Amino acid sequence: MIRKISVQDLKPGMEVVRMSSDMWTHLPYLYTKPGVIESEMQIHRIRQEGYLDVFVRYEIPGSTESEEERLERLILDRTSKAPAKNNAPFHEEFRNARKAYDEALHLTRRMVSDVKMGRQVDVEATGHAVEGIIETAARNPDALICLSKLSRYDSYTYAHSINVAAIAVVFGEYLELPKDELLMLGMAGMLHDLGKTAVPDRIINKKGRLTPREFEEVKKHPTYGRKILEKSGNIPQRIIQAVEEHHEKFNGSGYPSGLRKDDTGVFGRLLSLADVYDALTSDRSYKNAILPNKALAIMYGMRDQDFCSSEVQMFIKCLGIFPSGSLVRLDSGNLGVVLESNPQRPLLPKIKVILDEDLRPIPAQLVDLAATETPTVSIVECADPSQYRINLKPYLQSPR
Ligand SMILES: [Fe+2]
Repeated sequence: MIRKISVQDLKPGMEVVRMSSDMWTHLPYLYTKPGVIESEMQIHRIRQEGYLDVFVRYEIPGSTESEEERLERLILDRTSKAPAKNNAPFHEEFRNARKAYDEALHLTRRMVSDVKMGRQVDVEATGHAVEGIIETAARNPDALICLSKLSRYDSYTYAHSINVAAIAVVFGEYLELPKDELLMLGMAGMLHDLGKTAVPDRIINKKGRLTPREFEEVKKHPTYGRKILEKSGNIPQRIIQAVEEHHEKFNGSGYPSGLRKDDTGVFGRLLSLADVYDALTSDRSYKNAILPNKALAIMYGMRDQDFCSSEVQMFIKCLGIFPSGSLVRLDSGNLGVVLESNPQRPLLPKIKVILDEDLRPIPAQLVDLAATETPTVSIVECADPSQYRINLKPYLQSPR
């Protein structure tokens, strides 16, 4: 498995992994030259050059478990019972989810432009938009999660805020947070990056690696966010705190204040999980999206560093090994798209089979892998839709 570690913990013999498609490669303090570390001298040089973190391949002695098997074991090991879900059929709720999502997106565009012109945040409209998200998430969280994976990278700036709100709300419902807390969590999600309006566009939209100076400027956006929200006057303190803490990390290596887990509020930590998951699984101008199951494996590798171990495990359990919207290859050779995850039986989601083994479209067939005691087909692996040039959107939108 792959883990992010401090360069202080780097040792000769460790293999550095580039993570070429991940969202950190443009950061100035991440060492990304791949290969095996050969000497203490090399480590000394890396530290001297100012790098702080590095991704390494991390082998567990005697273990032959794949990342997916490890996730499966972790999830199945948990004794807590997953809450009931999916009251409404996916295809019915998808339309409602789209409406709530589009309303929130429209509001976010307006709000960003308002804030740039020095106007106050429209708290009432934000609450209303989040209520729509909470309602659709309660009826069928998979429709919302799926929708969050369909946003285009050119509208990322706006869509990301809605995605973070949606993912955080789905996770909050999974944790059975009361409605008033869900509302605050969702609002914090929608507002979490508002501080970026105070950072120059040329830095926010830069495609290449940021200079240390530019990165220092980006690191101020949670503080700028707090100031913008405080100016609005009537925003609950827990929302403001979550916005300011969404880049703090479990081990105190985050920003802007370097707070450790125990010094942060739970909302900020939930936002941070949703924020990283959405960033990893989204197309950006400088990187392609990572498959949802790979993103969860990477996030698991960041436990005890970026994330609290039990919280990231719960997050993985909530989204499932095959989150809705994933393309999967079956042992029959056919390809299908995951419509609904199954928290009780994570390897057995509901899927829509869409292509045969030669990638020819076939009449879509809905299969609930958990419907029978011994499923006739099983999932072999996640597949990359862009590799097969498949647009999943029509398959997710149509009921059949
Ligand atoms: Fe942020």
